[in-house]
Amino acid sequence: MKKIKVAIMGLGTVGGGTYEVLTRNRDVIASGYGVDAEVVKVLDRSEDVLVSRGVPAEKFAGNIDEIIKDDDISVVVETMGGLEPAGTFIIKALKSGKSVVTANKELLAKRFDELEEAAKEGGAGLYFEASCVGGVPVIRTLTDSMQANRITEIMGIINGTTNYILTKMSEDGLTYAAALKEAQKLGYAEFDPTADVEGFDAAYKLSILASLAFHTRIPLSGIYREGISKVTPKDIAVGRSMGYTLKLLAIGRKNADGSAEARVHPAFVPESHPLSSVRGAFNAVFLKGDFVDEIMLYGRGAGAHPTASAIVSDIIYCADREEPLRLDFKNGEASLADDFSSEYYLSLTVADKPGILASITKVFGDCGISIGKMQQQVSAAGQAEIIILTHTTKESAVRTATERLESLGGVKKLNTTLRVIK
Ligand code: NAP
Ligand code: HSE
Repeated sequence: MKKIKVAIMGLGTVGGGTYEVLTRNRDVIASGYGVDAEVVKVLDRSEDVLVSRGVPAEKFAGNIDEIIKDDDISVVVETMGGLEPAGTFIIKALKSGKSVVTANKELLAKRFDELEEAAKEGGAGLYFEASCVGGVPVIRTLTDSMQANRITEIMGIINGTTNYILTKMSEDGLTYAAALKEAQKLGYAEFDPTADVEGFDAAYKLSILASLAFHTRIPLSGIYREGISKVTPKDIAVGRSMGYTLKLLAIGRKNADGSAEARVHPAFVPESHPLSSVRGAFNAVFLKGDFVDEIMLYGRGAGAHPTASAIVSDIIYCADREEPLRLDFKNGEASLADDFSSEYYLSLTVADKPGILASITKVFGDCGISIGKMQQQVSAAGQAEIIILTHTTKESAVRTATERLESLGGVKKLNTTLRVIK
């Protein structure tokens, strides 16, 4: 039996869940995996939080140095979140030779090299399964199960909060604000939920996952990002009437010439597509390898228990290894394509007058965009709503077309532009 002593920094949603797993399932883990993981120190801003979670007073750590100086502690779990002081605390732990298990995707996406450097200096390991897609073992799949493959694509729903909001708006008619409030109450959202709804959280995760998948750093700055805060119930309803479900997607592709594409944005997904039935806080990720073909991973992408499950899995994984796992990206930084292709959905409010439709379709034609489907509905006196679905076209062409449409006589408002996946 391997006996390891663990410290947890931050006993909120995820840290609290981790403490619960390690307390409730300690014997199951010990008998099943030969690792007896004991939490010996817990650090949090508030002692009341520790008391409410049943942590005995002798395990309270007054500050980070109490954890660093305790030579018996070999693994430190960081579940405080944010860049600082989490970054400094992790670096201190790593440099002192303690391995770190973290769920902090923002820190990993922004300062991975610095953390990995500290891990090397201290001969320790840095593990972060919980940082991406909650309880779904996507990182372990990339690092330990797909080694035979050249991975060319990663696509999925990798943020629980936004998927919860979109599901509630679409199926239960909740407002955006009410759905977000529920997601916060359930412990899915980030401390500042802007990170979720504006797509930052999904971009952090895509940067981590695509870098691992492509063995090349996919910098955050190169990821195209659009959130869901501007999506309206009307867009969702019109999409549904046409057989589509709206999802926040993260897409990463590695092209044959070595360039890469990485983007996060809402998109219409056909109801027949497996991602369409991923509801609530569930997430799903497709990975495409040249030998294995497609793998789809599915499970809870956020919340105390699923994320704690991933943290504890890392603790056991780390305890089982002779040498720390090293995940530096040997092939440098990818050059990211600034254009990509998709089908598009556009909604416009126009004057209901002769010749308007012809002038609109001319803009599309002039920009080299082929229209796949079009529908028009008179909405108010002298006004019509036009929905256009394009065939696959370049994002740059759609941007040029929308700029021209906005200044075209008779177009009152360009309501929405959304991408559509097949
Ligand atoms: P949370 O509920 O806010 O928990 C964070 C805890 O750490 C709080 O108790 C907080 O105390 C404490 N804390 C923060 N700064 C501290 C400091 N300087 N010293 C001592 N204690 C401090 O957050 P969470 O949802 O568990 O998220 C934690 C991390 O996990 C984040 O990196 C997040 O991105 C990641 N994550 C979350 C989920 C999820 O479903 N929630 C899933 C995957 C990954 P106060 O409340 O007093 O600030
Ligand atoms: N806020 C994140 C989400 C937590 O909603 O997906 C899980 O990483």
